[in-house]
Amino acid sequence: MKTRFSIYYHTPEQEEYLQKVIKTIPDSTLVTSENLAHLPARLNSETDVVLLEYQEDNPLLDRWIQRATSDSKSPPVFLFLPEVSTEHLRKALRLGVRECLSYPITHELLQEALERLPTFADQGEAGATRMVSFLGCKGGVGTSFVAANVAYLLAKESKEKVLLVDLDLRYGEQSYLFDAQPRYTILDVVENLGNLDSHYLQSVLHICQENLQLLPAPTRIEEAETVTPGQLDKILRFIRLQSGYSWGLVDVGDRIDEITLKPLELSELVILVASPSIPALSNAKKLLELLNLLGLEGTNFEVVLNCWDPKGDLSQEEIDKFLGRKVMATVAASPQVGRSINEGKLLAETSPRHPVCQDLRKVAAFLMGENLKETGFFLWSWMAGLRGRK
Ligand SMILES: Nc1ncnc2c1ncn2[C@@H]1O[C@H](COP(=O)(O)OP(=O)(O)OP(=O)(O)O)[C@@H](O)[C@H]1O
Ligand SMILES: [Mg+2]
Repeated sequence: MKTRFSIYYHTPEQEEYLQKVIKTIPDSTLVTSENLAHLPARLNSETDVVLLEYQEDNPLLDRWIQRATSDSKSPPVFLFLPEVSTEHLRKALRLGVRECLSYPITHELLQEALERLPTFADQGEAGATRMVSFLGCKGGVGTSFVAANVAYLLAKESKEKVLLVDLDLRYGEQSYLFDAQPRYTILDVVENLGNLDSHYLQSVLHICQENLQLLPAPTRIEEAETVTPGQLDKILRFIRLQSGYSWGLVDVGDRIDEITLKPLELSELVILVASPSIPALSNAKKLLELLNLLGLEGTNFEVVLNCWDPKGDLSQEEIDKFLGRKVMATVAASPQVGRSINEGKLLAETSPRHPVCQDLRKVAAFLMGENLKETGFFLWSWMAGLRGRK
């Protein structure tokens, strides 16, 4: 597809540079090339992407960018900066720009940034499936158990369709929790990305119960290595557009990397699963700090404390104080949890009145009652920007 660029530059040298950069994108056209002194009142509706050389200490420019990015009809804005510092990223986030690019803007860098842009169809129907990611603060804290049982309760109580996606690509264990021997996994979707439509997606999902379906993780560790962030981005965006599902719950596992940041980017809510141990809580705090640094701290993140024992070493007040926020829900510890996992029978199904399930029901109720906000940020690019800072 043709990409139509508009350039706004500060110096003629940079105009020349940006024009060269755009030529590296096949089938691209330049519709406007203009000095920052001549910014238009409204952006050209024929433009797909604005590439703008950012000028520091120019409040008028900041205001113009803010106005442009808050207009839903305006094309996305990419900033070109001499270097990308944390301060720049924070500012850019506040201004609502899509990407920050610094010298040298290689073909790959710009191509990737373009691929991250939502498609026209995305913008039209975004939010059809509300995506919620479950991220473990540490291995073994119960992320998969919580995600599976909340998915079950959500489907049961809302009577709406829920899709559970196992994105712990290496060690996905959702199939065991449901005692499923699925014929297909996410790898089949990756291999057939070109044919991905609603029928195909339906045909590869495992039906756990009437309103709950599972997209399992690959069965072999080496298969996980073949999945790229770009492929995952396409699959998750496609799921988000499906009108057949009210919820897309994702078991992200406990790693933060280029792959697992995809569901975090595309989720309306991220639930951090922790246990009441110092290592898990310290990790939770670090994760919250990272998310805060990325500009995403706030209502889009909640903490669930699993394996909770009210008589344990730490009180809930102490934990809230340590984390600097209130824990959304606690889930009691019980030996029956381990048993249910080993039997491949969901506790929420076999013992719905169990205290653990009463706690999990609160998490499902939170999802049903909460008017979740959509995030439109591209975390990996922000992270990459932070890593590359001087
Ligand atoms: N509420 C609970 N009470 C008691 N034990 C629990 C509870 N939740 C989880 N467990 C125990 O923790 C183990 C790990 O649970 P689970 O596999 O869901 O964790 P995880 O965070 O997904 O682990 P992994 O890092 O391997 O992905 C279970 O086998 C179970 O025995
Ligand atoms: Mg797990």
